[in-house]
Amino acid sequence: MDERKVLIAPSILSADFSRLGEEIVSMEKGGADWLHVDVMDGRFVPNITVGPLVVSAIRPLTGLFFDVHLMIVDPLRYIDRFADAGSDMITFHIEACENPGEVIRRIKARGKKVGVSVRPGTDISAVDSVLEQVDTVLVMTVEPGFGGQSFMEDMLDKVKRVRRGFNGHIQVDGGINRESAVKAVRAGASVLVAGTAVFGQEDYSRAIAELRGTSNF
Ligand code: DX5
Ligand code: ZN
Repeated sequence: MDERKVLIAPSILSADFSRLGEEIVSMEKGGADWLHVDVMDGRFVPNITVGPLVVSAIRPLTGLFFDVHLMIVDPLRYIDRFADAGSDMITFHIEACENPGEVIRRIKARGKKVGVSVRPGTDISAVDSVLEQVDTVLVMTVEPGFGGQSFMEDMLDKVKRVRRGFNGHIQVDGGINRESAVKAVRAGASVLVAGTAVFGQEDYSRAIAELRGTSNF
C-alpha cells in the first residue's frame, strides 16, 4: 500500500453543466481534494468541452486545486491562457506535442505544477525523458474523450512501472470506481480522477469518502 494520502479529483465532465457553479461548491463541501477539468478540442479527441473562459468563470467559486487536463493538439499555444484563467496544474499529453520540454518550461515559467499524460495506446516509456521535470504522471485508464467508460485494467502495469522510479503523483483517469480504485492504489496511484463515480452520485460526500476509503486496502 502506498502510504501517502490518496487524493480524490472529481472530473466536472460528469457535472450538471446547467448548474456548474453549484456543483463545484457541493463537491468542495463533499471533501474533494482537487477539481479535474477536462479540456477537449475535437482534434486530439473526438469530443469538445470547455476552454479557459469556463476555468476563469469557476475560479472565484472555490479554493479547490484546479487540475486542468488538456486533451488538445499543440498544448504550448494555450498554456498562458489556462495559466491566466487560474489553473493550479496543467497536464498535457505527450502524444500531442513535438517538444514536451518546451511545454514543461512554459508551464513552470507560469508558476504552475506540471502533469504529463499518456493515452492507453502509448507506451509508458514515452514519458521517461521528462519524468524528472514533472510533478504528476496521468495514466489514462480509458481512451480519452468521454466519461462513463470501463476501466482498462492492463493500464495498471504502467502505474507500477512509473512508481518504481518516480516520487511525484500518479493519477489514474477513467473508469474509476470503488473496485478499480483499490487496484489503482495498490499499483501505486496517488490521485484518483473520477467523474461518474462522484458527480454521477446523489451524495457527493459519501461518494468521495467511499473512494478515499479504498486507500486503506
Ligand atoms: C476522459 C476524461 C476523464 C473522465 C472520467 O477523457 O479524461 O477525466 O471525465 O470519467 P469517468 O470517471 O466517468 O470514467
Ligand atoms: Zn481527465
